[in-house]
This record gives sequence, structure tokens and C-alpha cells, in this order.
Amino acid sequence: MIKGPIGVFDSGYGGLTVLKEIVAQLPQYDYLYLGDNARAPYGPRSFDTVYQYTLQCVEWFFSQGCSLVVLACNTASAKALRTIQQNDLEKIAPGKRVLGVIRPTTEVIGSLSKNKTVGILGTHGTVQSGSYPIEIAKFYPEVKVYQEACPMWVPLIENNEHQGPGADYFVRKHIDHLLAQSEGIDTILLACTHYPLLADKIKQFIPADIQLLSQGKIVAESLQDYLDRHPEIAGKCSTGGQITFFTTDSTEDFDNHATTFYGKPVKSSHLQH
Ligand code: DGL
Repeated sequence: MIKGPIGVFDSGYGGLTVLKEIVAQLPQYDYLYLGDNARAPYGPRSFDTVYQYTLQCVEWFFSQGCSLVVLACNTASAKALRTIQQNDLEKIAPGKRVLGVIRPTTEVIGSLSKNKTVGILGTHGTVQSGSYPIEIAKFYPEVKVYQEACPMWVPLIENNEHQGPGADYFVRKHIDHLLAQSEGIDTILLACTHYPLLADKIKQFIPADIQLLSQGKIVAESLQDYLDRHPEIAGKCSTGGQITFFTTDSTEDFDNHATTFYGKPVKSSHLQH
């Protein structure tokens, strides 16, 4: 059997915060990362556009020998994953699998909130899709979910302005909007893989007794569990610990910026759509 790396996808850099945790959890596998930077951000784009872009990238991963692809992007998980899983996979690549970041997070979030009241911060696309309230209701019908779209946060991060004073205004604004919806919120989820870079700033604007959750570790633990339960898929994933990075935009920009998200130097190659 020909084995291939595990594919990890994001519209840009955000998925690197998830890849970092996956590699820490499962260092034995090979990984292939693709950031579709040339077409980022996905957050404000329509369902159909996000679906078309994501499907194209998933097909590229398959052409590179991946049997398992993780959409490390909430927007793509919210707007494209279900259609790819239910309509496309059987036609284009039976036996291959695509997973997202929303389900693993919604499976655990209800157990992490004492008040059973959670806040979701995400892109416009993720919030508008309603994926979080819908999925959380399946696992924890008793949990109340409040959402806030933060359309300026990804641009602030992508432009390296997330630590500057300009970021304070937009961070405070959306935190205030979220917390104004309910006094009971005791858990806030960063439902965008870019947002962990804003975590320190967000903590300045929320009460200390509210816990702030990032998804990376949750997704990594869930992937380990998935591979344990699916030896037929795990057996198609190559091992050796090699990590390869691709971007659809400038490799120089990607390498300069990616280190902030991944925590280590990155050397990427270019993929032309
Ligand atoms: N990192 C993506 C997510 O988790 C959002 C970035 C974008 O808008 O493209 O939703």
C-alpha cells in the first residue's frame, strides 16, 4: 500500500496553530500543510466560494497522496466540509477522509462550561453558518450558545497589527458585544484558528474567571482518538516526522509570517492553482 502524509489545510496561516499541536501530539506522522494565502481570507466569502476553494485544495492533497485531510479552518469546516464528506468524497476519492475542527470542539465544549453557557468568537462566515449552535445542541442540548463575528481580527493578525494599540479597539468591541448578550458566559471559544495569536490581548478584556479556549489541543487529541479508532486510515498515513509546507501566494511572505503561528522556522514551496 502507498502511504502519504496527513494533509492540514487553512485559508492562510491560522491552521499552523493547529498543526503545531497535532505535531506535538502525533510526531510520528508526516504532514503536508497548505495555506491558500492567495485567496485568503475566506471569512467574508459566500458558501459556494468557500466550498469551491476548499474542494480544489482537498483534491490537491489527494493528488499528493494524502488519505486523510484535516480542515484546520473553521470557515472551511463550517461551509464546505459537510458537502465534501456527503457528496464529493464517494465520487472523487472513496476510502479517503476529510475531517474538520468544529465537531471535535463541540464534542467537548459543554463539559468545560460550569454554567452551561458559552460564547463563540469566529469569522463572519463561521458565525453566519450557525454551525456551532447547531452542533453543540446535538451533544449538549442544555448549553446556551452566544456568538459574535469579529471580521477585523483576521486582517489585524495577517497584517501583524494584532499586538498594536489599534487591535485593542476591535478586540474590546467584540468582547463587549459578546459578553453583553449574557452574564452567564463562563467559557469563550476562539472558533477561528487565527485567534490564538490574539489570546493575550483578549484576556485583558475579559474577567479573570472566564476561561478562554483555543482549539489546537482539542483537535490534536481528537485526531489521535480518530486514528486509534480507524486503523484502516492510520495505516495509510506515512510516518517519519517530515513536515512540508505549501502556500498559494508568495513563499517569502509565508516563511516570514508563518513562524509567528507555528513557533518554528518554516520553509515553504509555491503551489499554483
Ligand atoms: N483561520 C480561518 C478560520 O479558522 C479563518 C481565516 C479566514 O477568514 O480565511 O476560520
